[in-house]
Amino acid sequence: MSAGLVQAAYLVAAIFFIKSLAGLSKQETARAGNYYGIAGMGIALIATIFGPSTEGIAWILLAMVIGGAIGIHYAKKVEMTEMPELVAILHSFVGMAAVLVGFNSYIDPPAVISTTPADIHAEHVIHLVEVFLGVFIGAVTFTGSIVAFGKLRGVISSSALNIPHKHKWNLLAIVASVLLMIYFVKADGSMFAMLVMTLIAFAFGYHLVASIGGADMPVVVSMLNSYSGWAAAAAGFMLANDLLIVTGALVGSSGAILSYIMCKAMNRSFISVIAGGFGQEVSTSGSDEDYGEHREINAEDVADMLKNSSSVIITPGYGMAVAQAQYPVHEITEKLRAHGVNVRFAIHPVAGRLPGHMNVLLAEAKVPYDIVLEMDEINDDLGSTDTVLVIGANDTVNPAALDDPNSPIAGMPVLEVWNAENVIVFKRSMNPGYAGVQNPLFFKENTQMLFGDAKESVDAISKAL
Ligand code: TAP
Repeated sequence: MSAGLVQAAYLVAAIFFIKSLAGLSKQETARAGNYYGIAGMGIALIATIFGPSTEGIAWILLAMVIGGAIGIHYAKKVEMTEMPELVAILHSFVGMAAVLVGFNSYIDPPAVISTTPADIHAEHVIHLVEVFLGVFIGAVTFTGSIVAFGKLRGVISSSALNIPHKHKWNLLAIVASVLLMIYFVKADGSMFAMLVMTLIAFAFGYHLVASIGGADMPVVVSMLNSYSGWAAAAAGFMLANDLLIVTGALVGSSGAILSYIMCKAMNRSFISVIAGGFGQEVSTSGSDEDYGEHREINAEDVADMLKNSSSVIITPGYGMAVAQAQYPVHEITEKLRAHGVNVRFAIHPVAGRLPGHMNVLLAEAKVPYDIVLEMDEINDDLGSTDTVLVIGANDTVNPAALDDPNSPIAGMPVLEVWNAENVIVFKRSMNPGYAGVQNPLFFKENTQMLFGDAKESVDAISKAL
């Protein structure tokens, strides 16, 4: 394949990637968005593998078969609730790839294109800076993603690491890396400076994500998504691959926009989160506080309550995903709608464990899109609702976010379900949610707990209906 044809293919692939992002921004077009992404990546792979500068095609194909087989195996096995972990570990691969490409490009630099001595020098300096920055961003992304993976999987504590003078350490890491870069360029490249910076960047990435508390993990996941994009773009510069630069920039900027949206949804400062929890007070509000007694209800009584309601709002959360309760939830929705009950869904922006988690599950169960509303669209209607079903949600319906300034989730907007006439909470125990804080909602006078696996509980209600 000629170089011109490869560039043309790259252009088409880039357009497909942009159409993919546009498609993924709406539920109705998300499937088409995925197909655009697959087509774009297919074109990009074919153009790269059969391009004029590619050698050792057999090795590439072998690596693709092995990598593809591992990928297919895990993609088939992974549960929806484990997706953020998978995404985090995949980001770590991108980070490590950027580190390896950086070292490779330093040891075996690309051929010089410039002709005059001044241009040759400038090109050389730019290459050194590209290598240094690429390795730095890649190393931060690598360890940051590993920590995010550990936190999401529960092998690392989800609470924020608070070492003394943590922000000074972060600042020191950045200053030391900048000084090392200046030395690296002045010394016309130095393996020693590269290695020291890589170790600093590994530690910096670890510390940056470890310092962020569990409740802010949604932002961390999208932030690492953004970092991995910049790491890929950096690799693109080192490999002089235009498509990698464009794709990396698309991922980097869309991840940054998503992080910003997440921060707004959670009422967090964007700068404070990307700086590793800068300026956050250590929250002490615990789960030991005595909120009084909770009341319980059974499935048959919930079914009666629903039949006597004219408006019902369902607020799903992580527990619905774990129980895979979306199918019976759709069933009761249809039964109630057939009885003339106005049933709607209220989706919190960080419900579940990944952006859009609840929307995906409800779409999978064929719940109509027009009754699935975002928090801002429906929060004011909760006060005039007869019954709210909180199915496996906890932090996202916790009034402590608004009432308790010391809570780790203080300031996060929540679904104000307690304003409804009746609230039924589906969960298995009185255990706290992801952020580890008790929920005063469970003890309110208009709240009743329906204990058990969410799927079994909803199935029982469906039968009784
Ligand atoms: P959570 O606060 O995570 O609470 C989920 C609840 O579901 C738990 O209280 C649990 O109680 C219950 N549950 C678990 N398995 C269940 C089952 N089989 N049947 C019934 N109930 C079950 O839920 P949320 O309101 O969706 O909040 C999400 C949290 O995750 C937020 O803190 C958010 O910041 C964080 N987070 C979100 C994301 C994104 S991007 N969405 C990413 C990372 C973290 P029991 O154990 O008592 O059953």
